[in-house]
Amino acid sequence: MKTYYLTAVLFALLACNTKQKKQEEQKEPATGEKEVRTSVTREKFGTLPDGKEVERYTLTNTNGIEMKVMTYGGIITSLKTPDKEGKTGDIVLGFDTLEDYLQKVPYFGAIIGRYGNRIANGKFTLDDTEYTLAQNDGKNHLHGGNKGFDKVLWKASEAKVDNGTALKLRYKSKDMEEGYPGNLDITVTYTLTNNDELKVNYRATTDKKTVVNLTQHSYFNLAPDSENILSQELQLNADAFLPVSKTLIPTGELKKVGGTPFDFRQSKTVGKDIEQQDEQLSYGNGYDHCWVLNGENGSMKKAASLYDPSSGRVMEVLTTEPGIQFYSGNFLDGSLTGKGNKKYGFRSGLCLETQHYPDAPNQPDFPTTVLNPGEEYNTTTVFKFSVK
Ligand code: BGC
Repeated sequence: MKTYYLTAVLFALLACNTKQKKQEEQKEPATGEKEVRTSVTREKFGTLPDGKEVERYTLTNTNGIEMKVMTYGGIITSLKTPDKEGKTGDIVLGFDTLEDYLQKVPYFGAIIGRYGNRIANGKFTLDDTEYTLAQNDGKNHLHGGNKGFDKVLWKASEAKVDNGTALKLRYKSKDMEEGYPGNLDITVTYTLTNNDELKVNYRATTDKKTVVNLTQHSYFNLAPDSENILSQELQLNADAFLPVSKTLIPTGELKKVGGTPFDFRQSKTVGKDIEQQDEQLSYGNGYDHCWVLNGENGSMKKAASLYDPSSGRVMEVLTTEPGIQFYSGNFLDGSLTGKGNKKYGFRSGLCLETQHYPDAPNQPDFPTTVLNPGEEYNTTTVFKFSVK
């Protein structure tokens, strides 16, 4: 009887451990103060219609920044950072339940692929073979199609890192999935460092020539209680942007930002010029364009800096990518109710999506997005949080 009882307790403990696993990974250097540790915890977040379980991980750094990521879509469901008074707030848009994420949502917090952004008419050609993709944005292809990487289940594992905590997400995209050639093996690693950075590293290999352009689609609002992002100050490290057609496909021109509402070389509020009479702004109903980053494609450089004067929060973006899509949340219209019952109104969040240029597979003058067998796709973007 006693043995039976002990075995039962042991089983209960083991079951508990697999359900809710907490690992304290690293100690803060001794300061004489209370010891602060990074941690990763795992919980069940929900079940998909096909019965598969979705997990959610919570990553915490030594300064109390906390990020939650779920295995469905690799979606960052919350990201809590302190304001200038030390009060923590959630600076990304999202929902409380998996069911909400399964409704039609505009890519909140998700990993985007196989091709982030638009491909004109849902077609491209590689070595004389034409590939046809879903036309899921008018006649264009957007963010990987009907079931892009934002809607697949990723395999998660914790990764050891020196100065923080990390989560590795893996997905194998089959040859011709959503119309793209090649079996693509993708690993996205989210690292939350003790220097208050979120590093996103994207790696992929293929067994057939294909195109790849991966990005992260978090909608940020550094002042979570505010209605919109218009009073937040943005700086973009770009002398040029890519003008688009009415359907938001780049015309191919690299246009200097000087003298246009697209000039963010000096920090200015998002709202400052957004209502100007401007053909490009009218096409996007605001900003929905790719800026051509100064500096070298492939090397880490400053891309953007966002500052909210009310909370003092600053977010800097650095990347190895050649471009950044700044989308000012122009399609948000109040019809979505998110975390804590907040209605997501017009421009209540903004995206800073580091990436290669939209429609590059059809624009030979743009940096290439072709990935060949034997090569590794490897890009990194860093979001660094601070206050001033
Ligand atoms: C695009 C927008 C699009 C949004 C989807 C952005 O990356 O640039 O045009 O509406 O994603 O929510």
